[in-house]
Amino acid sequence: RKPVIIDVDTGVDDALALALVWKCKQLELVGVTTVNGNVSLAQSTLNTRKVLHMLQQLDRNGRGSDTGGSETVYDTEANSCPSGVSTWTVPIVPGANEPLMRPTFFEHAVHGNDGLGGALSDMEPPELEPDQKHAAQFIIEQAKKRPGELTLIMTAPLTNLAIALRACPELPQLVKRVIVMGGALQTYGNVTPVAEYNIYVDPEAAKIVLHAGFDLTLVGLDVTRQALLRPEHLQKLDNTPLGSFVRTCTEQYMERYRMRNGVEACAMHDPLAAYVAIDDSIMKTCRYYVDVETRSDLCDGQTVCDVQHRLGQEPNVNVCVEVDGDTFMERFISILQA
Ligand code: BDR
Ligand code: CA
Repeated sequence: RKPVIIDVDTGVDDALALALVWKCKQLELVGVTTVNGNVSLAQSTLNTRKVLHMLQQLDRNGRGSDTGGSETVYDTEANSCPSGVSTWTVPIVPGANEPLMRPTFFEHAVHGNDGLGGALSDMEPPELEPDQKHAAQFIIEQAKKRPGELTLIMTAPLTNLAIALRACPELPQLVKRVIVMGGALQTYGNVTPVAEYNIYVDPEAAKIVLHAGFDLTLVGLDVTRQALLRPEHLQKLDNTPLGSFVRTCTEQYMERYRMRNGVEACAMHDPLAAYVAIDDSIMKTCRYYVDVETRSDLCDGQTVCDVQHRLGQEPNVNVCVEVDGDTFMERFISILQA
């Protein structure tokens, strides 16, 4: 199984990416790191604890109780799950609580006040271990443990990875690959006319990461807008343990997408990036030189992709330019249903 760390600002689509990574048998989830982004660091960490607690409970219930009767049962109908599991099977490690050089910029209008569209609102998940290390330190340690093997899936502003690079400039040689949900390479943005949210929130961090020398794949809005969760997918999920969670958490998110884009659907930005770690054959990628604008009132956070090689720079990014969105959605649903 491929070892992965996923870095999240949980967020509706981050939650679904977590579910995908958790349920996919080809991946070994080494840890989850959290960061400020859609919501504050505290909220993104709480949401991550809730989602992983739910997944952990669903797994344990599926396998039968194995913790001496202290189990609690996730109630998918009530969308609640009382706490009861005392240990985390996967480490959750908080990181940066603000971008490197800018103020925070939350997305409550997209993901709801709590970041999960109100899903799991009653849950009180177990606490984290006290005295945790920083997410950046965790990434470095795990990369050093398995040189050349670890994949980093980044579905949030890139602050944690930029901090890790400062502490460990040789990190690009230690990890296998980095997959980033971010950027709008040949399309329009989703937070300004030209900028995608994850890059816009911390463009200085994105610039550091893009130029660090990673084997880096950028899964931008060009392709994530082709990965649409539609009502028929929700119907398919209805009979599964995860179904009601997916339906509740995507309700407001879908409404927002409909208002902006005029379709009854919502984009699975982060799950698509996570899926690339499983199988990237659904993507067509091109190698380009990509940089990030950091000094413009109008265009900060824009990912500038040098398609015609006008800057004469070596390509630094595998840019996803086409995806088979229907195949992705089929596989996504079938992994969640399993
Ligand atoms: C990205 O921004 C966030 O709001 C989503 O979670 C996703 O990571 C899409 O632009
Ligand atoms: Ca995200």
